[in-house]
Amino acid sequence: MLVALLLLVALSNAVRVNGNGGQCGSNPRLDPRPHSVSILEFGAVGDGKTLNTIAFQNAIFYLKSFADKGGAQLYVPPGKWLTGSFNLTSHLTLFLEKGAVIIGTQDPSHWDVVEPLPSYGRGLEVPGGRYQSLINGYMLHDVVVTGNNGTIDGMGMVWWDWYSTHSLNHSRPHLVEIVASDYVVVSNLTFLNAPAYSIHPVYCSHVHIQNVSISTPPESPYTVGIVPDSSDNVCIEDCIVAMGFDAISLKSGWDEYGIAYGRPTENVHIRRVHLHAFSGSALAFGSDMSGGISNVLVEHAHLFNSKSGIEFRTTKGRGGYMKEIVMSDIQMENVHTAIAATGNCGSHPDDKFDPNALPHLDHITLKDVTGTNISIAGNIAGIEESPFTNICLSNITLSTNSVSPITWECSNVSGFSDSVLPEPCPELGNPSYDSSSSCFYLLSVSGKTVVQ
Ligand SMILES: *[C@@H]1O[C@H](CO)[C@@H](O)[C@H](O)[C@H]1NC(C)=O
Ligand SMILES: *[C@@H]1O[C@H](CO)[C@@H](O)[C@H](O)[C@H]1NC(C)=O
Ligand SMILES: *[C@@H]1O[C@H](CO)[C@@H](O)[C@H](O)[C@H]1NC(C)=O
Ligand SMILES: *[C@@H]1O[C@H](CO)[C@@H](O)[C@H](O)[C@H]1NC(C)=O
Ligand SMILES: *[C@@H]1O[C@H](CO)[C@@H](O)[C@H](O)[C@H]1NC(C)=O
Ligand SMILES: *[C@@H]1O[C@H](CO)[C@@H](O)[C@H](O)[C@H]1NC(C)=O
Ligand SMILES: *[C@@H]1O[C@H](CO)[C@@H](O)[C@H](O)[C@H]1NC(C)=O
Ligand SMILES: *[C@@H]1O[C@H](CO)[C@@H](O)[C@H](O)[C@H]1NC(C)=O
Repeated sequence: MLVALLLLVALSNAVRVNGNGGQCGSNPRLDPRPHSVSILEFGAVGDGKTLNTIAFQNAIFYLKSFADKGGAQLYVPPGKWLTGSFNLTSHLTLFLEKGAVIIGTQDPSHWDVVEPLPSYGRGLEVPGGRYQSLINGYMLHDVVVTGNNGTIDGMGMVWWDWYSTHSLNHSRPHLVEIVASDYVVVSNLTFLNAPAYSIHPVYCSHVHIQNVSISTPPESPYTVGIVPDSSDNVCIEDCIVAMGFDAISLKSGWDEYGIAYGRPTENVHIRRVHLHAFSGSALAFGSDMSGGISNVLVEHAHLFNSKSGIEFRTTKGRGGYMKEIVMSDIQMENVHTAIAATGNCGSHPDDKFDPNALPHLDHITLKDVTGTNISIAGNIAGIEESPFTNICLSNITLSTNSVSPITWECSNVSGFSDSVLPEPCPELGNPSYDSSSSCFYLLSVSGKTVVQ
């Protein structure tokens, strides 16, 4: 403990998370923009039928000239604004008024095909390029997508259908993708029917996602809500996310491409979220994690009606790590498997991956958890050559509705536990939790340093 405290002093000076976006606890800086134009001024028609791609592109091209004058706002009034994909610009606020719905066109000829992300090497679903997302940012600073509960609707049904019938020519687009940018805010909006992911920050710093509601129907294949990917200083708070697959999924690249790109997801703070993941996990880590994932704090999360509550996924060939992750004050209901971790999950981008690139899972803490109507308490299957280590469980009570007892299944894992019901497997049952220095480590997220 003393060592930890001394380290705390040293680290709290060195590792200060600065800035506005990406820091839970201080609201993102949202100075009003000195200029604002309405999409109507660019000939847009909000009848749900007219394609407004050119209007959005022209409006944003025009607003580029305000970047060095304090930035500008693009105002979207009530109406149904059908559009193909468009790019944002720096120092821009896209504001969707109550009753404004941006609708993605279902005609794939209106979706450009772009290069795969370098940390993935290929499209996720189909090799080669991928459809550009509906709303994109590339190398931007200070960009805000917000409103008064306006809606962004990806009309994903056709895409889910093409995915399920293997008729996609390129990997599906996302709703909002911001690449290699910093000071990004997404707030006060509703996101519906994403073709694949809803909000995807990649290679970004200082991202603040606040008070958004995201959903896709339960049967939509592999739809994911928020995906912080090779990004740092990310805050996600006060969000409601209900998805076909995962609600929030942290990633950092795929096998040899992710290892070569080498950009981790770190300093992530998630709090006050309600997550529902029909066929995946409410809170997921991986399986694409080759750049590493660390320094993550999740607090006050409600995970419900999900296949898994919390799931770590990886496989041999991924390399990378998932470590220093603390989750506390978690409430689960109607979740099949409360805690899952698997070292044998996911496919490879191609046959160039290195089977000896072993991922590491280490220093994962889960505490103050209650769960009702849980079928499996924990299913943890580590990798023989790289066992999962220092899994710390404390003050966890899980109950079942079923007549069969609620169980733990473990292999190739070690850890500590204290006050866990039902009793965990012997690998995690080491009772010296309180005296184990392995369960006390530093986490520095949102400028606050937590000693567990
Ligand atoms: C949008 O940005 C991408 C790069 O991210 C670029 O390839 C594309 O041409 C841009 N589209 C428009 C309309 O500017
Ligand atoms: C959340 O967003 C809604 C509109 O979408 C707004 O009415 C409400 O005030 C926001 N709440 C917070 C805490 O920002
Ligand atoms: C926001 O809009 C969605 C529909 O787009 C609606 O279901 C929801 O109730 C609204 N939320 C608030 C806080 O107004
Ligand atoms: C895929 O390409 C084929 C051949 O160009 C085309 O007929 C088909 O409509 C395309 N599918 C989709 C979903 O765009
Ligand atoms: C969300 O909306 C509320 C109510 O209008 C406003 O006070 C708040 O600043 C907005 N937050 C963000 C981050 O846009
Ligand atoms: C218990 O959870 C399962 C999902 O794991 C769900 O299908 C079932 O309806 C829940 N039972 C009750 C009584 O809510
Ligand atoms: C155990 O966790 C519950 C919440 O699940 C919390 O209310 C309680 O204070 C915790 N107990 C201790 C000793 O920290
Ligand atoms: C480790 O996992 C392998 C299969 O992945 C299994 O055969 C082996 O028994 C496990 N080792 C232990 C100690 O559980």
